[in-house]
Amino acid sequence: MRHLLSAGDLDRDEALAILDTAERMHALQDREVKKLPPLRGRTIVNLFFEDSTRTRSSFEIAGKWLSADVINVSAKGSSVSKGESLRDTVLTVAAMGIDALVVRHNASGAVARIAGWVDCRVVNAGDGTHEHPTQALLDAYTLRHRLGGTGDAADLADRHIVIVGDITHSRVARSNVLLLRTLGARVTLVAPPTLLPAGVHCWPCETSWDLDAVLSGKAHGDVDAVMMLRVQRERMSGGQGVAGGPVVGFFPTEREYAIGYGLSPERLDLLGESVPVLHPGPMNRGLEISSAAADGVRSAVLDQVRAGVSVRMAVLYRLLAGADEVTV
Ligand code: NCD
Repeated sequence: MRHLLSAGDLDRDEALAILDTAERMHALQDREVKKLPPLRGRTIVNLFFEDSTRTRSSFEIAGKWLSADVINVSAKGSSVSKGESLRDTVLTVAAMGIDALVVRHNASGAVARIAGWVDCRVVNAGDGTHEHPTQALLDAYTLRHRLGGTGDAADLADRHIVIVGDITHSRVARSNVLLLRTLGARVTLVAPPTLLPAGVHCWPCETSWDLDAVLSGKAHGDVDAVMMLRVQRERMSGGQGVAGGPVVGFFPTEREYAIGYGLSPERLDLLGESVPVLHPGPMNRGLEISSAAADGVRSAVLDQVRAGVSVRMAVLYRLLAGADEVTV
């Protein structure tokens, strides 16, 4: 594996190898001294052209726990705000002798372009509405644990995962569909018709507009896990929307969206006690997810955050140290 640009780049063996490496990395979280030596002397730059809390900080922690030097460059405060082109910015950063670039950009395909310009390793930390492969990996890690397959090489074969919400603007949905299919799971996407992307019928999954029918198991069979997605206001209104701002054009009102597609306390009762509820964060409480769902026993939200560090350690380790076996 030279870069990690798409969840679709991972075959089953590679995906399971990353998840198994992440299992070993996870042990570090319970230690007092959280430091391993394998990336000593390596330099990783987090180049973020979009806002991020958990992705950027977990890549930073992951690199540091592996003893790499990690530098954060955000578009705000960089020469991008002085009019420098993407290529010039990237080549400038890459010329400083770095080993890996972790990039988030608001344009779909930008990270793959960048990988073609530089010699170092490149990890896609989210490109527009396209892909977010490490999110899909940390979701798979969390699902393996919550659904009982915690051992090495456990997979999600024949599990039914339901992904609900703003699929059109979600890079998390696309990466999850690709990875979950590779791991043998069955995926149903649920959204209002306006938030299902054109061409979704070609994706390796089923779709529905009826959340209650799917959650109750009446429409597509028993549900093993539910993943709620954020309504991505900032990608709406032709990209002119802002996070926290009004939603224009995709559904009549937020109240109607919450009634049709929010994970309310009543809908939670349609799920079995052990069915985990995932959300990549940040959450819009009261819109796509109720506090009862976000904070209840089924919620895997903070497990996902913890898994994020371990999975990103595994990805950086495999890209930069290149070995399969880890001694923790
Ligand atoms: C996701 C993202 O940025 O694509 N969040 C994340 O990485 N934790 C999903 C989102 O922003 O809704």
